[in-house]
Amino acid sequence: MKYPWQLPEEERALLLSMRRDLHEHPELSWHEERTAAQVAASLRALGLSVRTGVAKTGVVADIGASGPMVALRADMDALPIQEDTGLAFSSKHPGVMHACGHDVHTSTLVAVARRLVANPPEHGRVRLIFQPAEEGAGGAQVMIEEGVLEDPRPVAIYGMHIWSLYPTGVVSVTPGPAMGSVDHLEIVIHGRGGHAAAPHDTADPLVAGAYLVTQLQTLVSRRIDPMSPAVVTIGKFQAGEAFNVIPDQARLVGTIRTLEPDTWEKIPTLLEEIVQGCVAGFGCRAEVRLERLQRPLVNHVKESALVREVASRWVPPDALMERPMLAGEDFASFLEISPGCFFFVGAAGSVVGDAAPHHNPHFVLDEEAFDLGVRLLEDVAREALKRAIAAGVGMGAAP
Ligand code: NI
Repeated sequence: MKYPWQLPEEERALLLSMRRDLHEHPELSWHEERTAAQVAASLRALGLSVRTGVAKTGVVADIGASGPMVALRADMDALPIQEDTGLAFSSKHPGVMHACGHDVHTSTLVAVARRLVANPPEHGRVRLIFQPAEEGAGGAQVMIEEGVLEDPRPVAIYGMHIWSLYPTGVVSVTPGPAMGSVDHLEIVIHGRGGHAAAPHDTADPLVAGAYLVTQLQTLVSRRIDPMSPAVVTIGKFQAGEAFNVIPDQARLVGTIRTLEPDTWEKIPTLLEEIVQGCVAGFGCRAEVRLERLQRPLVNHVKESALVREVASRWVPPDALMERPMLAGEDFASFLEISPGCFFFVGAAGSVVGDAAPHHNPHFVLDEEAFDLGVRLLEDVAREALKRAIAAGVGMGAAP
């Protein structure tokens, strides 16, 4: 056995065959029909009663009939990327790829279900949540609106993300702020167009926009606590049509990411000040549209400690890390309602330098790492139930 966490051969074969099958048939957000059907069929084969069509393509099933409930969540969607890995089980859907490992999350949670059904917890229930549309499409929020955290309210919810940039065997559990917010930013600068040779008769939104692109960086460097990470990126700048014309308008589109909720809350005011102050110097005015797509993901301290403790049964202390990141993750929505923890399992193999990042056409994962994700989610669920029962939490909800 290469790793202590390796699953029995038969279970491992089922896990890998499901993962490879899902990898070959990736589906975009809100279109996870085939994936959901595979999940539902696997769960029904275990004798579970399965709810499909939750948040359109989501699947939910409960293991156990009474006592406190612990929820485990996996996301199912893929990305609009053309795969270029050369894997034997590469995507068969042109332009669509599991480039974030959600195929692993889905097959991992099915593997966990198999183990929990084979050896059910003595008391309590586990809710399996297979979520659609994690990739910027807000699937978690819709699942919440459709009641996945009700009847009963789980005592805690846990989720795992496989990570191509951490070595196999590394587990990252970050209590508190752990992942970034996602804001969509659009700024339209209104000036007054005119002749390129007579700028004094115009208000030039293009020059104002050029200054603004650089000045926006001072939002991070001058207005935000340097100990609180944040990023501003302008990904699109549109202005002008002709070499001898000063345009009427310029348009900047980008994103802002913050790690801490306090900083996230300050962004709208700080942004408005910088934008209006900058463009006013050029005789322009601006409209700022900030769409708050995702708030920061904040792990609960007690639940994070539980994951860390469980992980330490499987990996040595130096393989346990705490590392926040600014990528967004809509598991944040679940954590606003329920205590819980979202953690990372490394799958870079042993040579980390060569690994492609997530959302990249060359993204590959070390399959040896997957069993650890199964072990951790299973043990976390068992341990969380044991503690809830010992503390008498969530008992009132029993039928
Ligand atoms: Ni992801």
